[in-house]
Amino acid sequence: MPNNSATPPSFAPIHTCATTGDTAGSGGGQASVATPLAAAVAVGGDASGARLRNGRWRALRPYLQRRRWALLAVGALSLASTGFGMAYPYVTKLLVDEVLIGHKPLLNQLVAISLALVIAGFFCSWANNLLYSRATMQVLADMREDLFCHILRLPMPLLYRQKTGELLTRLNMDMAEVQGFAVDSLYFVITNVIALVFNVAMLFWLNPPLAWLSLLLLPLPALSGALFRRTVGGLANQVRQGQGRLATVLLESLQGIKVIKGLAVEPTVSAAFRRDTDTVNRVNLQLLNVSFLAGNIPGTVVAVAGVAVYWWCGRDVLHSAISVGDLIAFSSYLVRAFSPIQGLTGVYIKGEKARVSWERVSELLDQPAEPSLPATLPEPLRGQIEFRNVSFAYPDVYSEKRILSSLTFTLPAGAVLAIVGPSGIGKTTILDLLLKHLTPTAGAIRLDGIPIAEIDAASLRRNIAYVSQDVWLIHGTVAENLTFGRACPMAEVEAMAKLADIHDVILQLPQGYATIIGEKGMQLSAGQRQRLAIARALLHQPKVIVLDEATSALDRDTEQGILENLRRRFPGVTLILVSHRPGLVSLADHFLEHTKGRWQFSARGWTAHAG
Ligand SMILES: Nc1ncnc2c1ncn2[C@@H]1O[C@H](COP(=O)(O)OP(=O)(O)OP(=O)(O)O)[C@@H](O)[C@H]1O
Ligand SMILES: [Mg+2]
Repeated sequence: MPNNSATPPSFAPIHTCATTGDTAGSGGGQASVATPLAAAVAVGGDASGARLRNGRWRALRPYLQRRRWALLAVGALSLASTGFGMAYPYVTKLLVDEVLIGHKPLLNQLVAISLALVIAGFFCSWANNLLYSRATMQVLADMREDLFCHILRLPMPLLYRQKTGELLTRLNMDMAEVQGFAVDSLYFVITNVIALVFNVAMLFWLNPPLAWLSLLLLPLPALSGALFRRTVGGLANQVRQGQGRLATVLLESLQGIKVIKGLAVEPTVSAAFRRDTDTVNRVNLQLLNVSFLAGNIPGTVVAVAGVAVYWWCGRDVLHSAISVGDLIAFSSYLVRAFSPIQGLTGVYIKGEKARVSWERVSELLDQPAEPSLPATLPEPLRGQIEFRNVSFAYPDVYSEKRILSSLTFTLPAGAVLAIVGPSGIGKTTILDLLLKHLTPTAGAIRLDGIPIAEIDAASLRRNIAYVSQDVWLIHGTVAENLTFGRACPMAEVEAMAKLADIHDVILQLPQGYATIIGEKGMQLSAGQRQRLAIARALLHQPKVIVLDEATSALDRDTEQGILENLRRRFPGVTLILVSHRPGLVSLADHFLEHTKGRWQFSARGWTAHAG
């Protein structure tokens, strides 16, 4: 990925993912779109079919503009190497007619010119290749980074509906296809059109009647492109969807490998994977076949035309109507006139595949990201939490699941709240609402009296240490996991690890804090993983701590110890615990309990209906 700091300051920054609150241009409480890609796609908001016709390719412009000097250099070098290539047949003609047949003493000069043309052409192509590869990679990295930012900023309810494999395919393959087309077409079209005009002009200069005849063949390759365009588009779409399915199956299987082994269903899973692969391969073969035909019919036409020219002109050479050099030069320029057409047909076919990919990327970019709001939480935050008539239902395809109905309670700053209730009743949902991962269907949630709907989500979450039920760790060292995404002094990291009662365990690992803990922390026990997650969350210096069954894998004493550490290290911080354990609940001074079909809120020695 290109380093943003290394880019010329003259260009407006493209990437704005760093923090939602820092998003440039956001303001006025308006929902903002983070990236140029998303911004351009958001304009219009029409049905996907009409998207490209409405000029949404313009979304790609800032990315090309950012690398404009490199792309311009690529264009100039392409023109130069095309020019050297185009001059070569004419020098050959002079060599044959003037030197070999006319016996003029120009052999050394013409050979030197030929050599110079070949060597200059080589160096131009070499430099061009280097520059082009670098520019394309940078454009792709910029675009991928922005799409990734956009995905990271999508609201949770939208992300719940996405399949990881699909996202991966769009981010990887579709983005590469779009970028390839955006950059390739730019200079392919320019150089091919110039080459076409020059070569056709040379044909007319050398032999006008034959040039007219050859011209009749020129539209044939273009026709072949037009003929196959729709088929290519349809097949490309099927291939991408299939690849998305494959990636999803792969990811799911690898994540659940222990379950697959436990159920001893490896053969069934791999057979299903093989079936899916075969289906994708079948469609991919059709796509390759059609793309080959579309791209290579022009080549065959060129070959036929070349033979025809030799047959036609051969007789004229025999009757001395034209020179041998003319024949060689004419057939060379004919081949060179057809190859730009072939190149343009290729761009056209590539464009169709890129259109399909762009549709798929646009579907993601069409999804509105979480809004960046100007309001942040006041400093210092006290941590009073208020739910006022909060109702919530998950938008479901089949039905609306009503989880909360007019939930009302006020938790004083510095209190310890235990949320207790049977599985599936909505405990995690309450926390998701507090963290703005979900939005209430009615009612308001306030933090220190400020409605969280008005507060920027990133600012809110920075103040809340949230440890979820499912621990998420990366394949990295213990230290990398603890400081994930932030720079923290090691002393602070160790302090939090001690607080979460994991420091001693870490020290016993082979490389201590530098030990790699494997994917998802595989090399640690469930309880150790939970303690690592708690330490990571606490590095936030939070004003509110939320533990959603985050100590469920720990023994009673360790759990009690951690919570006592928490109260000691973070006095006055509001603590919310979701747990089924009576021991843990006994630490709380406030309770939100689901009994007799409703939520009841109570402080020690006091009870009220919460909703
Ligand atoms: N993303 C979702 N989309 C639709 N329904 C959901 C979603 N997440 C949870 N639910 C439903 O909402 C209900 C409450 O879920 P929630 O996770 O809040 O329960 P919980 O009380 O935390 O349960 P547990 O103790 O098992 O963790 C459940 O019945 C669940 O089926
Ligand atoms: Mg839960």
